Amino acid sequence: MTPWQLFVDKWKNCTLCPLHTQRSNIVLARGQIPAEVMVVGEAPGVSEDALGIPFCGPAGQLLDQIIERAIPVSVSVVYCNLVCCFPREAKDRGENEPELSEIIACRPRLQEFIAIAKPRLIVCVGVLASDHINHDARGKVTGAAVTQIDHPAWILRMPLVQRQMATQRAIVVIKTAIRNVLQ
Ligand code: URA
Repeated sequence: MTPWQLFVDKWKNCTLCPLHTQRSNIVLARGQIPAEVMVVGEAPGVSEDALGIPFCGPAGQLLDQIIERAIPVSVSVVYCNLVCCFPREAKDRGENEPELSEIIACRPRLQEFIAIAKPRLIVCVGVLASDHINHDARGKVTGAAVTQIDHPAWILRMPLVQRQMATQRAIVVIKTAIRNVLQ
């Protein structure tokens, strides 16, 4: 079995935190591994939960546009999240973030994925991802460089001009990191 198949086998029925009761599908990753760039979001949303694929909803469409404009097609990219189950109850309460305890419970899965994906650059999508990846990445989890962009779900809520500026900023941030880390 490949590292990916072993990874899926190990985590596909995960029950390590209460979120497992709220998911329709576990959302592990999108893309090939190993990958030079790993994009890490917060948690699956409604679309991701329905399909079991990270960043396949509206925020994912904007993220794809950012990545397409920032990263050459020759560079491999893989997508995942801090937690791999949809925080349905938090969403129903109007809170869009997973609980700290859920992020911590899901950390071994994320660490294992980083270990098999072997990224050279991790792009944190949003502050929450950055907080937790920076915490983990301070040395021993991964030797990857880490950068952060605004969350596309947040960018989508901005008025048009700010949205265009925030999108452009995210592209520049990733382009700069790619230049510094991969070239
Ligand atoms: N937002 C995230 O942080 N991750 C997804 O997969 C989708 C939306």
